[in-house]
Amino acid sequence: MNFIKVDSYDKLSAIAANIIASQVTLKPDSVLGLATGSSPLGTYAKLAEKYRAGELDFSRVTSVNLDEYVGLDGSNDQSYRYFMDNNLFCNINIDRNNTYVPNGCADDLKAEGQAYDEFIKKLGGIDLQLLGIGLDGHIGFNEPEAFFTKETHEVQLDESTIEANARFFASKADVPTKAITMGMMSIMQAKKILLIANGAKKKDIINKAFFGPITPFVPASILQLHPDVTVIYSEN
Ligand code: F6R
Repeated sequence: MNFIKVDSYDKLSAIAANIIASQVTLKPDSVLGLATGSSPLGTYAKLAEKYRAGELDFSRVTSVNLDEYVGLDGSNDQSYRYFMDNNLFCNINIDRNNTYVPNGCADDLKAEGQAYDEFIKKLGGIDLQLLGIGLDGHIGFNEPEAFFTKETHEVQLDESTIEANARFFASKADVPTKAITMGMMSIMQAKKILLIANGAKKKDIINKAFFGPITPFVPASILQLHPDVTVIYSEN
């Protein structure tokens, strides 16, 4: 594991954007696994800057997102599809037809999950997976539980996750309680993994996840078993 500690969110975002930019430059048809939430916003802004400066071309990139709330479609401004369209895809030249987010409105979420995993496999897997980390150690929306789940699947969000995400909604009651998330198989099979986290409140979970025992009760701890993980953490 490559653990990089920096002293500002700006530096974290600059390093993360450089790692993603190298990936896209070296392999223009990369499959990028992408995340939502507040952590990647700076990274996405810096990628857009690089694109505008003519340094990056996303035209052959395919993206697969980690997760989506159950019951929110892409027109809902709290959906992760909407987030990606507005915080990254509209600012770069990726072909929107090559961007994928699990469908949280599918009638059969189990079939949706299977199809998503099959699709990722058909793409040849993920070249670089970007991750954030929840205060409870979740990656994607793989919440702490007694086992690691392999497949893309429906999850019940933990109370702490609902509380943490309430800041994006009008009220806590508006936060969906369920999501569909990529499971550990597609994440762990990614060729490279880049996890970003910032803020003093994430210090404890970063220590547990990367310097503590590997346990499904701290889902991100499974990343210790991956051969190519970079973690960038800024306490500020
Ligand atoms: C989002 C996702 C989540 C977030 C995590 C951290 O697609 O998969 O695991 O990365 O909840 O969220 P922030 O960055 O808002 O602290």
